[in-house]
Amino acid sequence: MEKKIRILTGDRPTGKLHIGHYFGSLQKRIEMQNSGLYDPYILIADVQALTDNFKKKKKVRKNVREVAMDYLAAGIDTKKTTIYIQSMISEVAELTVFYSNLVTIARLQRNPTVKTEIAQKRDVFGESVTYGFLGYPVSQAADITCFDGELVPVGEDQLPLIEQCREIVRKFNSIYGEVLIEPKAVLSSGKRIKGLDGNEKMGKSLGNAIYLSDSEEEISKKVMSAVTDPARIKKDDKGNPDICMVYYYHQLFSKDEEVKNVCEECKAGARGCVACKRQLAKNINNAIEPMRVKRAYYEEHPEIVDEVLKEGTKKAQRVAKQTMEKVKQAMRLDYFRK
Ligand code: TRP
Repeated sequence: MEKKIRILTGDRPTGKLHIGHYFGSLQKRIEMQNSGLYDPYILIADVQALTDNFKKKKKVRKNVREVAMDYLAAGIDTKKTTIYIQSMISEVAELTVFYSNLVTIARLQRNPTVKTEIAQKRDVFGESVTYGFLGYPVSQAADITCFDGELVPVGEDQLPLIEQCREIVRKFNSIYGEVLIEPKAVLSSGKRIKGLDGNEKMGKSLGNAIYLSDSEEEISKKVMSAVTDPARIKKDDKGNPDICMVYYYHQLFSKDEEVKNVCEECKAGARGCVACKRQLAKNINNAIEPMRVKRAYYEEHPEIVDEVLKEGTKKAQRVAKQTMEKVKQAMRLDYFRK
């Protein structure tokens, strides 16, 4: 049998996952998992989450399980995918220290993702960023290479981190020998979902997220407050669906025929926004319902979720140990080895 290609990807456990995550990355991960061509590992990056939430230890810990439940509910199948907790793999921390010799501070400061994030996180870091946050690309390189990750499905914002990882790998291999695999990023080519409020992005901090775990009422409420064509005051005013978030969401969640009708009737002033929103809420709800049911099951049985995490982490620990042996041998950090 051909060896399957190792995939390595993950999320910071800072909150429940929403449909932006679903369309942006989860859907693609599930598709890759089910293709049978890959050996996917997904890490819940609790150590990385602490780099900018270092005081919010309870929140990060709580969200480890929340994120795991979202994965399982969305269709990550642990017979095919290994889910593990980053902080339980001490080899990753060790590898991070080794890699820190191979990257300069100037190079980290130039990393576009890190640069943007530091600017956005003035409230956390003030004028001077921590060593840990500035260095998280180094630890992310350890996340990937510790598991011989070949493909890393990520969003566009993560590309500079993968590029930095590749540089570290090349440097390591040129000094210590060809030990590490140079990973490739694959754009998880999902679409970026706008918020119902018209914001370009969906996010927890933006207050416009629809969570995979939202109840029917929560979804209805969110859809009812969606931004529509502001020029449409009366029910029979002619509308412009292109500037209406309800229409945008119909395109994501409604059948082609329905989308066509929505568009035509809106333009002709033959459909009221309230009815249009109700119809959309129903469709979003139908799409999320199976995940909500599955998630509710795991909420009732946290022991199953914890078992999945325990098993995945154990398996990951075995892989990490093997990589570490190769690395230490190459670096001559194996004094007592016979
Ligand atoms: N940085 C990623 C995020 O913000 C999470 C992450 C940590 C990750 N380690 C990784 C992603 C390794 C891909 C590969 O969500």
